[in-house]
Amino acid sequence: MIELPIVQLPLSSPSSHTPVSLHTHRGIDTQHHIGGTAPKVYVETYGCQMNVSDSEIVRGIMQASGYALTNTIDDADVIFLNTCAIRDNAERKIHERLMHLKYYKKRNRALVVGVLGCMAERMRQELIETKQIVDIVVGPDEYRKLPELVRRASFGEKGIAVKLSRVETYDDIEPLRTDGISAWITIMRGCDKFCTFCVVPFTRGRERSRSARLIVDEAQRLWDSGFKEITLLGQNVNSYYDPSSDTDFADLLRMTARAVPQMRIRYTTSHPYDMSNKLIATMAEHNNICKYIHLPVQSGSDRILQAMNRHYSVEHYKERIRTIRTYMPHCALSTDIIVGFPTETLEDHRMTVELMEEIRYDGAYMFLYSPRERTKAWKMPDDVPHEEKVRRLNEIIDQQQRISHEINQQSIGTIEQVLVEGPSRRNPHTEWQGRTDTNKVVIFPHRTDAAAHTRLGYAVGNIVHVQIERASSASLFGQVVG
Ligand code: 5AD
Ligand code: SF4
Repeated sequence: MIELPIVQLPLSSPSSHTPVSLHTHRGIDTQHHIGGTAPKVYVETYGCQMNVSDSEIVRGIMQASGYALTNTIDDADVIFLNTCAIRDNAERKIHERLMHLKYYKKRNRALVVGVLGCMAERMRQELIETKQIVDIVVGPDEYRKLPELVRRASFGEKGIAVKLSRVETYDDIEPLRTDGISAWITIMRGCDKFCTFCVVPFTRGRERSRSARLIVDEAQRLWDSGFKEITLLGQNVNSYYDPSSDTDFADLLRMTARAVPQMRIRYTTSHPYDMSNKLIATMAEHNNICKYIHLPVQSGSDRILQAMNRHYSVEHYKERIRTIRTYMPHCALSTDIIVGFPTETLEDHRMTVELMEEIRYDGAYMFLYSPRERTKAWKMPDDVPHEEKVRRLNEIIDQQQRISHEINQQSIGTIEQVLVEGPSRRNPHTEWQGRTDTNKVVIFPHRTDAAAHTRLGYAVGNIVHVQIERASSASLFGQVVG
């Protein structure tokens, strides 16, 4: 088990509130539950891995303040939705969820509902004003205030905390992780890139990096407590820099790889502009750094890349891919693509299609352009009709599926080292699921000793050798051979 540090909460001196016992008021008070049980928090996470990691920080903060955590919404005294604002449909999902939560609030009037994360930052006061059900709205840099805001909300005082910080990294907070073998480590927060389509610089604020020493210590503690895989997380990890130790991202990766040589190490997300040779060489040098890079290209047209303020050309991007493949011929690659960015012509789209065909990514995350308020692109004409955006999206989805399928066929007959993650989703009683270091999902049956009629299990967290027998565009299937 990871030991939780005492969290210092900067908000409100004890004298500013009179603590009130649960026996006389409806308010939540974690100091006064003698003989009772601690109030329970339920956290629902939407969006990117950064939010998954932030929810662990939120859980860490709440637990250190005397709350218990629950996975059952019916038991909750506090419900948090950790939200995403990257595209309009992400926000629509939250609006629907809030409608649904009215039922819980009707059942339990003391329930506190909080909207956290990027949508909280974007909508702020508006959320409190338009959604009666919402008690508190808290942006990504204000999570230390959560216990106090919840306490006040339980006495009927709605609260909002959405200041962005230049320094907050939650360095001293131990995230409360529940996975067991795979852990996220946030190494930096915010983004200074200002891609013209992206709301993140406005919802997560300026870029700031955590101390390299604390990150390496955290990786070490995670290994000591049984984790087998870590992912170093940041909106743009390539611009990680810790001035106190003059450590850049390649240095950090090397230090981490050496400190925990048996740990599988991943990272995301990279920006093609500053994907350095030093970083590529560092990956190649260390066996425990997984050979998988997510390198969002967004578009195959130089004109569109410029309008997106991406700071690189298609040629620069292709050169980076060539260098990656020279150093690591078997490195898997994935990307993000936006279709229908303002002014995207059929010719621009064709260039994206051709680039994807040329690079042959192992996987791709593909999106319809969604205009976001406050971004530069918001002021550009959203001039590709919706049906045309959908047509372009379907075209590249089909193409990518074919390419992924073809690439995965090449794994047939190979023996892959697979980290066992747990029972497979489709057949949990008969199959396991794991991942290769290239981030491919591998499904394989439980091994049984037919003579003894017993099942020889593999523990979650084991590395097993699986011979691949068949492959789809999404997964590899095989048998354990050792
Ligand atoms: N519309 C569509 N996709 C977007 N992304 C970011 N902002 C938008 C937007 N406004 C995509 C980018 C990014 C990924 C995380 O989400 O491809 O890399
Ligand atoms: Fe958004 Fe661009 Fe920053 Fe990624 S690099 S978070 S797309 S602004």
